[in-house]
Amino acid sequence: MKPQLILLGAPGSGKGTQAAKIVSEFGYNHLSTGDLLRAEILKGSELGNKVKEIIDAGNLVDDATVLELLKVNCDLSGHSYIFDGFPRNGEQAKALDNTVLGNSKAIAIYFKLDLEVLVERITNRRIAPTSGRIYNLLSNPPQVEGVCDESGEALIQRKDDNEETVRNRLNVFKETINPVLEYYRSKNCLVEIDATKSQDEVFSQISNIINN
Ligand code: AP5
Ligand code: MG
Repeated sequence: MKPQLILLGAPGSGKGTQAAKIVSEFGYNHLSTGDLLRAEILKGSELGNKVKEIIDAGNLVDDATVLELLKVNCDLSGHSYIFDGFPRNGEQAKALDNTVLGNSKAIAIYFKLDLEVLVERITNRRIAPTSGRIYNLLSNPPQVEGVCDESGEALIQRKDDNEETVRNRLNVFKETINPVLEYYRSKNCLVEIDATKSQDEVFSQISNIINN
């Protein structure tokens, strides 16, 4: 069985983009806590209403809420998962091991890049709400403006992708990521990749990690 993958990286570093490639090439299950939370907001559920303002401001949702959402959406028996956007702090890293992963083999992949490039990347992101496909107006635009190549649906911009919120998300990332990296480094399962490269080059680095 392929190792469980934990994708760590700043907002806009390419986690969701690479997760889609890993799913189609290696058959992983993709579990993004951000996607799960946004789906709750879209449904207008009690949970969605509780977290909406927090996400729109670019702050972190409380650990217990996110962990619960993760647990109900994840069944490790016989499946390899990509954990995208979880864990976000040291407590979540421990909780992932204690309540979900247990003794499963896992690799944490850190998408390393200079945070300065990310504001431009994220404010130019557009997504297809149903197919989940991710575009970028500068580096990866759709064939027809505003329309998903795959599903034909209208592309939207995430509410937290405006410049002010992006800057806050990057600050939150800087304040919380070090204990997470330290946790996986001390377990000897942290691998760093160069996330400044093109999407294909980043994917090739990840493929090598999965295959070796
Ligand atoms: P989440 O949805 O996880 O957002 P994030 O971590 O901020 O990451 P993004 O989805 O913005 O970036 P990405 O790395 O996936 O980049 P992408 O591939 O799209 O979380 C959102 C919110 O939910 C959080 O702020 C928080 O409130 C809450 N939340 C979620 N998880 C939580 C948790 N565990 N605990 C507490 N709260 C939580 O790419 C970005 C753009 O760049 C795209 O336009 C893409 O086309 C482009 N791009 C991708 N790769 C490249 C490349 N190699 N070169 C050039 N452009 C590229
Ligand atoms: Mg994402």
